[in-house]
Amino acid sequence: MRKNKNKRQPAKRKAASQTQNSKRPCSDSPKRTENPQLTPFEIFFKEIEKFSKLHMKDRDRVQEILQSMQKAGSKTLQVISDFDMTLTRFEYNGKRCPTCHNILERSDAISSDCKKKLQELLDKYYPIEIDSTLSVEEKLPLMVEWWTKAHELLVNQKIKKAGLAKAVKDSEAKLRDGYQYFFDHLNEHSIPLLIFSAGIGDILEEVIRQTEVFHPNVKVISNYMDFDESGVLKAFKGELIHIYNKKEGALLNTGHFQELRTRTNVLLLGDSLGDLNMADGVQDMENILKIGFLNDKVEERKQSYLDSYDIVLIKDETLDVPNAVIRFLTE
Ligand code: C5P
Ligand code: MG
Repeated sequence: MRKNKNKRQPAKRKAASQTQNSKRPCSDSPKRTENPQLTPFEIFFKEIEKFSKLHMKDRDRVQEILQSMQKAGSKTLQVISDFDMTLTRFEYNGKRCPTCHNILERSDAISSDCKKKLQELLDKYYPIEIDSTLSVEEKLPLMVEWWTKAHELLVNQKIKKAGLAKAVKDSEAKLRDGYQYFFDHLNEHSIPLLIFSAGIGDILEEVIRQTEVFHPNVKVISNYMDFDESGVLKAFKGELIHIYNKKEGALLNTGHFQELRTRTNVLLLGDSLGDLNMADGVQDMENILKIGFLNDKVEERKQSYLDSYDIVLIKDETLDVPNAVIRFLTE
């Protein structure tokens, strides 16, 4: 995994850089302009509205949610985020970035014959995943088919646990710009971050470990690999999580949401309409602000994203808007 050199800090200078980072959400955020006539909320909201990639169907509703969340305070906040194509970039220099599955599939842990088969699955099923003319009911069995076939192929490859770190290191995976502030700031304010992914947990963890942002406030729900005594992949653990059953996944993790029951305000980040169900296990929810990244098939899907997410970020490869929101909520 090639880290952005500007974002990578030598170990010794990390503490200093974190302090610096915590003062600004990102390098390219609009500058704060103090205006005595405006309230802090109005100043903040004007700032986020300047992001050209930000779209909202109901601006007043977004304002209401944000004001209510700010009033409740950051001790009542939890963040729930999808991983692939939400915390990670969709594109870099005009080239698609890999998902957790792609990281493994493209690594030297997989034979060329198997790579070909996995690519055929991707070519067949990804267009279905993003097809706005098909209903969730129509897509669901096909998504289960995709994940099941891909996992079977992976298990047959006798992948070694010891090789996963190298697969991630060699990959083109990239967290979105502004990731350092996002992870560090949430941790500094002890705000729990749940990463809820239909990707592969072992790979996801390795990505955030190698970028040095796997802080103690992070919990991951995902598909984890099951290795035998000699460290060879023998199966995937537990119930399969795919793109359209995050509701069931959330309801299986009641213990986590029970622990966070005083955190009744949620910031949710996703890139698929299936991600909207990630907060279904939250107890006594008071407010939820849903931010959706629309990366692909923009025109066809724009209306459905505007109808479902409070804020839609179109072809935005940064975490600037979520960062501005968390900065505001923790001020
Ligand atoms: O983290 P997230 O829930 O977004 O992970 C799911 C993503 O993994 C899907 O958007 C899908 O495109 C991708 N995927 C993949 N290869 C598979 C199965 C899923 O790239 N075999
Ligand atoms: Mg995703």
